[in-house]
Amino acid sequence: MYRTPNILIIDDEPLMRISISDALKAEGYNITSIESGSDGLKAIMDNFYDVVITDIRLPEVDGLQILKKCRQASPKTKILMITAYGSVETAVEAMRQGAYDYITKPFSMDELIIIVKRLIRLRDLEDENIYLKEKIEDKYNFNGIIGKSDKMKDVFEKVKVVAQSDTTVLITGESGTGKELVANAIHYNSPRKDEAVIKVSCAALPETLLEAELFGHEKGAFTGALKQKKGRFELAHKGTLFLDEIGEISPTVQVKLLRVLQEREFERVGGTETISVDVRIICATQRDLKKEAQKGSFREDLYYRLNVVPVFLPPLRERKEDILLLVEHFLDTYSKQMNKSIKNLSLEVRELLLKYDFPGNVRELENAIERGVTLCRDGEIQPWDLPEDICSCCDAGFKVANRLHYSEPLSSALSVFEKQYVSRVIEEAGGNKTLAARMLGISRKTLWEKCKAYGLVKEKEKEMED
Ligand SMILES: Nc1ncnc2c1ncn2[C@@H]1O[C@H](COP(=O)(O)OP(=O)(O)OP(=O)(O)O)[C@@H](O)[C@H]1O
Ligand SMILES: [Mg+2]
Repeated sequence: MYRTPNILIIDDEPLMRISISDALKAEGYNITSIESGSDGLKAIMDNFYDVVITDIRLPEVDGLQILKKCRQASPKTKILMITAYGSVETAVEAMRQGAYDYITKPFSMDELIIIVKRLIRLRDLEDENIYLKEKIEDKYNFNGIIGKSDKMKDVFEKVKVVAQSDTTVLITGESGTGKELVANAIHYNSPRKDEAVIKVSCAALPETLLEAELFGHEKGAFTGALKQKKGRFELAHKGTLFLDEIGEISPTVQVKLLRVLQEREFERVGGTETISVDVRIICATQRDLKKEAQKGSFREDLYYRLNVVPVFLPPLRERKEDILLLVEHFLDTYSKQMNKSIKNLSLEVRELLLKYDFPGNVRELENAIERGVTLCRDGEIQPWDLPEDICSCCDAGFKVANRLHYSEPLSSALSVFEKQYVSRVIEEAGGNKTLAARMLGISRKTLWEKCKAYGLVKEKEKEMED
């Protein structure tokens, strides 16, 4: 898949332009050479260049402006700045703003060729990297469900097998673990994939409405039933019915559901005609239905009918090896959606994401990355771009340093740090203030005053000390 690299040269000195152009053409590159900065910018907007070589000092639009615009319009392009002898400071500034390298006049063409070859190699590597990443994504992407942990691989295997049959499946797992994604994957891998998959959220409707929603109703069955209406079971005929939050259904609906599961037939609300359906049922719940059945709050016979094949989705904190893979996936999705070029997380963010427990599981991670991409300003997500819960899961100093954004007066930064540090030491001391004061090297009285100032005192303690 070799492609001749495109190189753009922007320099107002004709001799310099011609020498660079000849030297690089001899190396087999496609060369465009342009005299002015504004024409150079136009060319960058209209074409893709692997490398842009630009003089820093140009009349009107100068090299730094070209650098800035090119970074925005074409982030993959590598930029090499040419500087005059003695203007290293500008060159350093250019590097700080994202130029890949600089070369100082006068220079030999051999020197320039070496740098350009390095830049081209780097571009190729980046492309290769993207290609490899896509391959990895494919490998760990099962119908949009991303995961490489053994636990998720087991889920994928089970889904593949169970999809082929018509058995009822009960998907369990905490909120945000991907239950709906799995229900879809089962349907779309099953022989019923060309028929409908109909979803009902059982928690969203009160008992009587849910009954009518599931089984339909006859005209005049209840006030407001102006005409006959088919229920979700009928609409799902030949396809799949996904009953989400099944743990929430009332005892009456439980009985009706049991009958459909056993006999595949029912009557519409207010009707006498028995209707037969051919429906594959998938249910999901966050609840532990077995326990509920033992307690008596869920029918045991229904539980066994639903739980023919159980699929359990483990919480994200028990499969941390999936976190960075999911992050890559969401970064890609949201940066494309928001038209931003964000490929990286800072090291601190990686550390935070791997440490955090994610009570809201993959949904919480997805929301955090969406927020990170929205707030991110410099191509790399930083801790302060993340929600507070995640940002504060590491130790106090780290947290404070990162949230303060380095723009606070020292006194307020110190007091934020002191509050965090003091509360952490009290925690370490198991709430024992005398021990905490000793650990902090201050008197108990000073500690008490600090606690009061920082609002670290519980009401009960206040009464005792005052
Ligand atoms: N393994 C995964 N790969 C990619 N995206 C995922 C994965 N798991 C969950 N998600 C995403 O997380 C969000 C929540 O997933 P889903 O709605 O399937 O969870 P759920 O278990 O049904 O949650 P709830 O119990 O709150 O209804 C969705 O946006 C989904 O696309
Ligand atoms: Mg759900």
